[in-house]
Amino acid sequence: PVVPVVLSGGGGTRLWPLSTEEVPKQFLPLTGPTSLFQEALSRVADRGSFREPIVVSSARHRDLCQAALSNTGDGTRVILEPFGRNTAAAIAMAAETARGLHGGDALLLVMPSDHVIEDVCAFHAAIVAGEAAAREGRLVTFGIVPASPETGYGYIRMGQPLSPESGARQALRFVEKPPLADAKAMVADGQYLWNAGIFLFRADAILAALETYAPAIAAAAVEAITAGGSDGCSVLPNEASLAACPSEPIDTAVMERSDQVAVVPMSPGWSDLGSWDALADLGSSGAKAGPVTLLDSSGCYVRSDGPEIAAYGVDNLIIVAAGNRILVMPRGRSQEIRSLLAAMPISH
Ligand code: GDD
Ligand code: MG
Repeated sequence: PVVPVVLSGGGGTRLWPLSTEEVPKQFLPLTGPTSLFQEALSRVADRGSFREPIVVSSARHRDLCQAALSNTGDGTRVILEPFGRNTAAAIAMAAETARGLHGGDALLLVMPSDHVIEDVCAFHAAIVAGEAAAREGRLVTFGIVPASPETGYGYIRMGQPLSPESGARQALRFVEKPPLADAKAMVADGQYLWNAGIFLFRADAILAALETYAPAIAAAAVEAITAGGSDGCSVLPNEASLAACPSEPIDTAVMERSDQVAVVPMSPGWSDLGSWDALADLGSSGAKAGPVTLLDSSGCYVRSDGPEIAAYGVDNLIIVAAGNRILVMPRGRSQEIRSLLAAMPISH
């Protein structure tokens, strides 16, 4: 069986004012009745196919994690980071933990906790398609046909299938978060896929790749676990070791450098809810949510968790009210929210 690794360390402040550092987006019921974090866990809840997950989260969200795990989480290990060191370190700590629990040949399915996957069957089929390649030691990524020249994603140039019967293809090139001109060229090329941020590999394969391409991260993250403590089902990394760990995403630390990367194309209705535009484009939750009246308006996404919102004669706006905070932005520019938050008198 595959060991799911759920990454849940991100701040998610791009969905301010709903998502905050205290309660980041993965713990919010953004698209339905349950949180994205719970949805991520329920995708891998079948204990015939998946072992108990390893969750890597921030210590400050310990209670949110525990609450979410109380229904489904028997035997789940939660690695509680005192501070984040980005995904390469988080994945290395999970791999070292899995190696201790299940051995180095354990297959890890690394998944973000903040994505939407509409077709879980298609997702499971993609995992099965990548298994043989991962067992052979490849670093398997999952690719989505790009819908637009997104600069917030990684791109993978796909090559030939690894073998006639394999569902996995060669990944000829991996480009993390390209400038817009490059993203446009890759979308036009037709041979590039978006990196879904989901990975399948053996624990020993990713640790070996980290030792080769990011030895300082491998050493510090492994030490953070071996010299760390535990508290029930929580794993507490050693703070001094983690403090010494460079902070880098797995994408640039390993995926851009390794020649062992493979890609499984998939179409499971995947969406990274990284911005209000992504939520607005999803559409399934409707153009408005909460006590909202919209008249003579088009292309707006309006959402309130309390205050009444009435808008008239406006087009292509994002309006979000949460508590006593209100955001107004044009559609298409929600990635720029960081500049807005930075300009605000209270830090976010
Ligand atoms: N535990 C832990 N600790 N988790 C972390 C940390 C950390 O320090 N940093 C990020 N994460 C988690 C986030 O919560 C998220 O679930 C996942 O790791 C990915 O991190 P993001 O920060 O959301 O990455 P991204 O969206 O900018 O880029 C990645 O995902 C894209 C698809 O959504 C890359 O893999 C891109 O190539 C990819 O296209
Ligand atoms: Mg993301």
